[in-house]
Amino acid sequence: MKRNGTLATIATLCLMGGVLVGAAGRAARQTPKNPFEGNRTAIQDGGAMFRTRCAGCHGPDARGYLGPDLTGLWASGGADDRIFDVVRRGVPGTEMPPADPQRVPDSDIWQILAYLRSLGTAPVQPPAGDVQNGARIFRANCLSCHMVGGEGGHLGPDLSRIGSGRPRPALEKKVRGTADYIRPGYEPVTLVTRDGQRIRGVRKNEDEFSIQIMDTHQRLLGYLKANLVEIVEEKASVMPAYGPERLSGRDLADLVAYLSTLRTPDSGRR
Ligand code: HEC
Ligand code: HEC
Repeated sequence: MKRNGTLATIATLCLMGGVLVGAAGRAARQTPKNPFEGNRTAIQDGGAMFRTRCAGCHGPDARGYLGPDLTGLWASGGADDRIFDVVRRGVPGTEMPPADPQRVPDSDIWQILAYLRSLGTAPVQPPAGDVQNGARIFRANCLSCHMVGGEGGHLGPDLSRIGSGRPRPALEKKVRGTADYIRPGYEPVTLVTRDGQRIRGVRKNEDEFSIQIMDTHQRLLGYLKANLVEIVEEKASVMPAYGPERLSGRDLADLVAYLSTLRTPDSGRR
């Protein structure tokens, strides 16, 4: 009996030890500070790494291109550990790739973050504009093709978090029809059938023998290539262009202000 009691005590102590160590480990991981913050050489090296690994999406000066503006992350309340985690893990379901721990050591990420932090002084200004009017314009013109918060059409991508995903100039260009970027998975195609029908849509899937598209009536259609005369890869997006004659500069500003409110729930910036 006595022996058992001692064993139980030891077991409990070990367990407590385990819990304590675990808690300390977690606490340490929750609030690490960037070991390279303010370190000049690290900032330079980080800048070089940024230009080769990140600039293609975030722009050469980190002010945003396809991916969002990364200056001002800290000024608007971002914490080192959270930003580190985003870079390590990526953002699933978006173009933001994870960094493989086998190939990218923590120190690379910290140096890149030291560089980014050295750029940002002011929080990125939320775009000026009437968000309510923007929401109205969106419902009237865009919701038929785009989902937001579980409501809307399927021909275009879900825009529920587009505000954290794209910088403002990219949104403006997309609406005006001047963007040189077409979202993968939504490439415009026209299928010409043997009986001369032309079916326009976005490409969802394709292999050697078949192609699946969503047509402009938002129907998913599959064809055997043997039954098609031609598959025309279009240049212009299925999304209409909203030039100044359809959407005034002011309405565009309101619309973009609204789109900018559609953000990741846990995003530090809002
Ligand atoms: C292939 C394109 C691509 C590359 C390469 C890329 N990113 Fe991103 N990144 C994105 C996109 C798109 C998002 C927005 C994801 C979303 O919708 O939330 C993003 C988001 C982020 C965010 C979150 C911003 C916020 O406001 O929360 C950080 C931080 C970030 N990227 C840093 C980096 C760094 C550092 C690198 C290089 C090591 C990098 N990214 C490389 C496309 C990219
Ligand atoms: C007829 C359907 C249709 C309508 C209407 C439409 N869109 Fe689109 N939209 C699309 C499609 C398809 C794509 C994806 C292909 C592309 O990138 O051009 C897209 C892409 C986008 C993107 C880029 C998404 C990304 O990940 O970068 C934005 C932003 C956008 N639309 C906003 C709008 C807004 C705002 C309106 C209303 C003023 C609107 N769309 C109206 C079909 C539509």
